[in-house]
Amino acid sequence: MTQQVRCAVLGLGRLGYYHAKNMITAVTSASLTIVVDPMPGRAEQVASDLGVEKYSDSPSEVMKDPDIDAVIIVTPTSTHAKMITLAAEHGKQIFVEKPLTLNVEESKAVSKVIEETGVICQVGFMRRFDPAYADAKKRIDSGEIGDPIYFKGFTRDQGSPPADFIRHSGGLFVDCSIHDYDIARYLMGSEITSVSGHGRILKYEFMKECNDIDQALSYIEFESGAAGDVEASRISPYGHDIRAEIIGTKGSIFVGTLRNQDVTVQTAAGSTYEIIPDFQTRFHDAYCLELQHFVECVQNKTKPIVNDVDATINLEIALAATESLHSRRPVYFKKTTV
Ligand SMILES: NC(=O)c1ccc[n+]([C@@H]2O[C@H](COP(=O)([O-])OP(=O)(O)OC[C@H]3O[C@@H](n4cnc5c(N)ncnc54)[C@H](O)[C@@H]3O)[C@@H](O)[C@H]2O)c1
Repeated sequence: MTQQVRCAVLGLGRLGYYHAKNMITAVTSASLTIVVDPMPGRAEQVASDLGVEKYSDSPSEVMKDPDIDAVIIVTPTSTHAKMITLAAEHGKQIFVEKPLTLNVEESKAVSKVIEETGVICQVGFMRRFDPAYADAKKRIDSGEIGDPIYFKGFTRDQGSPPADFIRHSGGLFVDCSIHDYDIARYLMGSEITSVSGHGRILKYEFMKECNDIDQALSYIEFESGAAGDVEASRISPYGHDIRAEIIGTKGSIFVGTLRNQDVTVQTAAGSTYEIIPDFQTRFHDAYCLELQHFVECVQNKTKPIVNDVDATINLEIALAATESLHSRRPVYFKKTTV
């Protein structure tokens, strides 16, 4: 395919609006043909805001539209399996947000449909496209820090999303730590063989009704013999804080910073700098680059660097961490099951 990839964005909430905007402003060789959301008035409002010609409140109608080559699925996770299946059956190329689904059986069923229909499926693990994480990957692969032996990563969100989102999110390990599990597997070049999950509610009491926690820690081990830990938190009042360290036999690499701009203000009161406020700011480049990669994969008929198979492995780890939290025992994986 050499012409523009004609895309639809489905789901125009917190992240969908942002993906729609990035499609228009930062992705080349693609056009945003239609925006879709079932919430009354939402699609029309976003179409008008962003200057998109068409809008719809019916995802299933859009799947049948012959003028659409690809769908960007940013709907609640509980709807992903149905959306992906519909899209694949209509021959649409698929970009879907993480997590792929909320249970492994559904993820495997979705993968089967993807394989049978031969469509592309990229999943939104955008850290792989972040310039700092991508640079770390190159340096680790070139041997700069020797053999990677320990991964340390954390995801601290500045506050909790509302209870309605938490209830359908799959929980803290599935919603947040899943990004760290994915980037850990990618950077360490090895699969995770065991996980133990720990955590509790430290601030948001409503988490109890959602059967969730707001602070978590996972200890992980890798096939290579390496180990690691992953922290997740909904309590980071100072800003959106996502960092990692990869320790190797010859050195270590730090990824990420708290600083939003390389500007420090100094007055008699002291020295200050601006902290990254939210995930859209921290990962702006990564969100644009992952969509560009998807469009290029559609055009060149190549496999995305992060796909439904990775997403299923990441989900298995996150669900195992959740199981471990309740059973208070580590969960061991015999080998990758996908
Ligand atoms: N990669 C990341 O960093 C990241 C960050 C945030 C969210 N996400 C993922 O993105 C997805 C959406 O999250 P969000 O925070 O934007 O949610 P949200 O609740 O803010 O928005 C979801 C939108 O989808 C719409 N919707 C509901 N059912 C729909 C359907 N059947 N078809 C079309 N639209 C539908 C809703 O009306 C709403 O506007 C989730 O899977 C979430 O895990 C990923």
